[in-house]
Amino acid sequence: MPETNDKPEFSRGLEGVIAAETKIGYVDGQAGRLVYRGYEISELAGKSNYEEVSYLLVNGHLPNEKEYRDYDRKLKELRTLKPDTYSLIKEIGKSAHPMSTLRTVVSYIGAKDSRTVEPNLDEQHDLGIELIAKMPTIVGAINRVYRGEEIVKPDHDLTYSDFFFHQAMGRKPSDVESKMLDTALILHADHGMNASTFACMLTISTLSDMYSAVTSAISALKGPLHGGANERALALIEKVGSPENADKVIGKMIENKEKIMGFGHRVYKVYDPRAKILKEYAHEVTSMNGKEELFHTANKIEEVMISKLGNKGIFPNVDFYSGMLYSSIGFSREVFTPIFAVGRISGWVARSLEYVRENRLFRPKALYSGTKELLKYVPINERD
Ligand SMILES: CC(C)(COP(=O)(O)OP(=O)(O)OC[C@H]1O[C@@H](n2cnc3c(N)ncnc32)[C@H](O)[C@@H]1OP(=O)(O)O)[C@@H](O)C(=O)NCCC(=O)NCCS
Repeated sequence: MPETNDKPEFSRGLEGVIAAETKIGYVDGQAGRLVYRGYEISELAGKSNYEEVSYLLVNGHLPNEKEYRDYDRKLKELRTLKPDTYSLIKEIGKSAHPMSTLRTVVSYIGAKDSRTVEPNLDEQHDLGIELIAKMPTIVGAINRVYRGEEIVKPDHDLTYSDFFFHQAMGRKPSDVESKMLDTALILHADHGMNASTFACMLTISTLSDMYSAVTSAISALKGPLHGGANERALALIEKVGSPENADKVIGKMIENKEKIMGFGHRVYKVYDPRAKILKEYAHEVTSMNGKEELFHTANKIEEVMISKLGNKGIFPNVDFYSGMLYSSIGFSREVFTPIFAVGRISGWVARSLEYVRENRLFRPKALYSGTKELLKYVPINERD
């Protein structure tokens, strides 16, 4: 018999449905606020570094000095990749989008780890920390190979985001680049039950292992309606080319009912607080490297969008300015979404661990709208 729904409530895309309880963080879409474990995102971005925020998300409180030292040491110890992982990254080379490479590499490392067979909660935790530690090394190496450059020897003295920058770019960041990248990673670390986090939690709810869960999350993040939007947002800003063109190009796209990447959000109906912070950095970095025109074009696109669609709650989201920022510090655009994954890994791990501790298998229903009458089966050779 076809599956029917007992209750007639139906929310396409699960919009507004509460399916889990969390103490990790919340998004206030009306007030434009993002809070991790009780701390406002702007305060964490200004005062903490990524390691502290990662610890906060996973463990529930900001670390004291000893806890910080231990966590930092652990992340540094687990950063290294084995030679066969580097070989895989080189083998894939430029033949795949870096998000596909990232998904494959995470899945590969998981396949080689015997703890992924039937992990208990402690093992799930350890696998999660290992993934947090390895993500910058993996994405850094993917960036190098994608650009046809040599893989960089890990420098274990560097902080999480400086290490990532060094692995990806082959040089240490300036103070401004360092702060910018660290801030971007913090801003991306967690964001409610977005599609990739949900995919991660859904997979772990089957009692699958953390590597499989994060592989699901990366797959979900890859899509243009989620992590892939910043690549397209930057392409659009470049296509518009100058502030004078914004009205015409964007107006036409809106008329054609095209989605403007980097705008709109399922939860925020006001300005995304992360976009506000990234916009300031984008302004700073484009002024420094002579690409101010790009920033002014983006700013004009924002003005046009808000004047035309602000009344529908459409404002810039985190992806509108992040691509410009990453490109200004030298990242290829194909690596923008993997950078998102380097930040979001702590949220994926924290929420999956929190969920699996009080596990309940995710299993929603679909509203059946097909025929309710049973049809007579016709053999293939008698069908029209
Ligand atoms: C993120 C997104 C999927 C949210 O979609 P959503 O919750 O279904 O959006 P809403 O229902 O609030 O949209 C309301 C209206 O604004 C329009 N709209 C939403 N986002 C828009 C965008 N980026 N460009 C143009 N129009 C947009 C919708 O088409 C809808 O129009 P309608 O009233 O004529 O039907 C959507 O805004 C989008 O596709 N944005 C671009 C991709 C992006 O930047 N993703 C990154 C998210 S962090």
